Amino acid sequence: MSSTDSDPLAWARDYTPVLQSLGDEHEATEPLDGNTIGLATHMEAVSGCLVEALNRAGAEVLFTASEPQSTHGAVCEYLDSIDGITAYAWEGMTDEEFEAAQHELLEEAPEFLLDDGCELISKCHADHPEVAATVIGGGEQTTAGITRLEAMEAESVLEFPVYGVNETPMKQFFDNVHGTGESSLVNISITTNTVITGQNVVVAGYGYCGRGIARKARGMGAQTIVTEVEPRRALQAHMDGHRVMSMGEAAEIGDIFITSTGTRDVIRREHFAKMTDGAQLANAGHFDVEIDLDGLEAYAEEVTEPKEGITRYTTPDGRHLNLLADGRLVNLTGPASEGHPAEIIDTTHAMMFVTAHDLLTREHDLGPGLYAIPDRLDRNVAERKLDTLGIDIDDVTQAQAEYADSWRHEESSF
Ligand code: NAI
Repeated sequence: MSSTDSDPLAWARDYTPVLQSLGDEHEATEPLDGNTIGLATHMEAVSGCLVEALNRAGAEVLFTASEPQSTHGAVCEYLDSIDGITAYAWEGMTDEEFEAAQHELLEEAPEFLLDDGCELISKCHADHPEVAATVIGGGEQTTAGITRLEAMEAESVLEFPVYGVNETPMKQFFDNVHGTGESSLVNISITTNTVITGQNVVVAGYGYCGRGIARKARGMGAQTIVTEVEPRRALQAHMDGHRVMSMGEAAEIGDIFITSTGTRDVIRREHFAKMTDGAQLANAGHFDVEIDLDGLEAYAEEVTEPKEGITRYTTPDGRHLNLLADGRLVNLTGPASEGHPAEIIDTTHAMMFVTAHDLLTREHDLGPGLYAIPDRLDRNVAERKLDTLGIDIDDVTQAQAEYADSWRHEESSF
């Protein structure tokens, strides 16, 4: 048996220095001892390092998947064999098993929920209200999850405080932009074994993820096209040098389509009807809803699988449209996908760690609701990351601090 087989986290540990520093710091004192944390996320090796760090800090960790097809079996089995860690996820789980496993985890009444897509938090409120009433707090790491939490807050149904980990610089500037951007393109390239350079790459949505995808695609030599519904984002894409047009127009010229909007049916039948032969369709946004799969199925005359991870739809006029990774997150669920690069997820998961640590270990008077993560936690993770990179930065001098704080003419000499 190779070391990879016996310890599927071995490689990921080397590239998650921030999580390792948190585990090292808290291993002796175990500040989370006595706390049970329920975690839903894409269960691959780097997520395994978060589970391990929480466990080293004393927590009992119950983990499940946030997407049925992104689970790595060896990671789940390895973690499940550790005292104080229980897996509610396995490789190849069906959609029904995925749903059932999340409920099973919630039945164990965890006191804290670390979520990815608001899977556990929404199910806890909808189906396990007695558990929701005892949960101390939670953290959410995705855009889609924050949207669902905002809806819950608007209806005043949230039962506990939740930190919006997604909304923090240490998440959005790195995970969404660089993580999604790089891993989506790498996985499209590996899945199809075709070039990106010179292709018309259409990116739907110019948020954090879309910006990263478009930037990296251009870096790989693609001609980039962006579609949007938000005028300022569309203008930003234009000023960043991408072509901006409607999906109706882009459908006619795109070679590779990548959605990252967080909403449904961004590419639909009217667009399939205009696409060129061989077009590749990938989703890097929300679940499998951004490309209208029912519409594609209904439109196609024949469906085949020319290569693992690619479903080919033959249209009535003989064109081939190639759907990658079943329209699920291409960077996470393709045949060779491992999610974001480890160093990127390291800081996102470190934000999840400090969320749990902060709400479970300090006195706080936070009532139920969605909260911005305190800036001190974001800074702490940024400082740890800089430390691991061996990068020193300047301190603000006393004179600079006073200058920034002053507003009177004689003090500030405006
Ligand atoms: P964001 O809110 O910053 O950007 C989404 C953009 O899509 C907005 O500019 C919005 O105006 C635009 N949009 C909405 N509807 C559209 C439509 N019909 N056509 C074109 N554009 C449209 O969100 P962010 O952070 O970029 O995330 C996008 C999605 O990616 C979310 O679902 C998020 O959960 C997901 N995500 C995926 C990751 C992955 O690993 N694949 C990692 C992080 C986030």
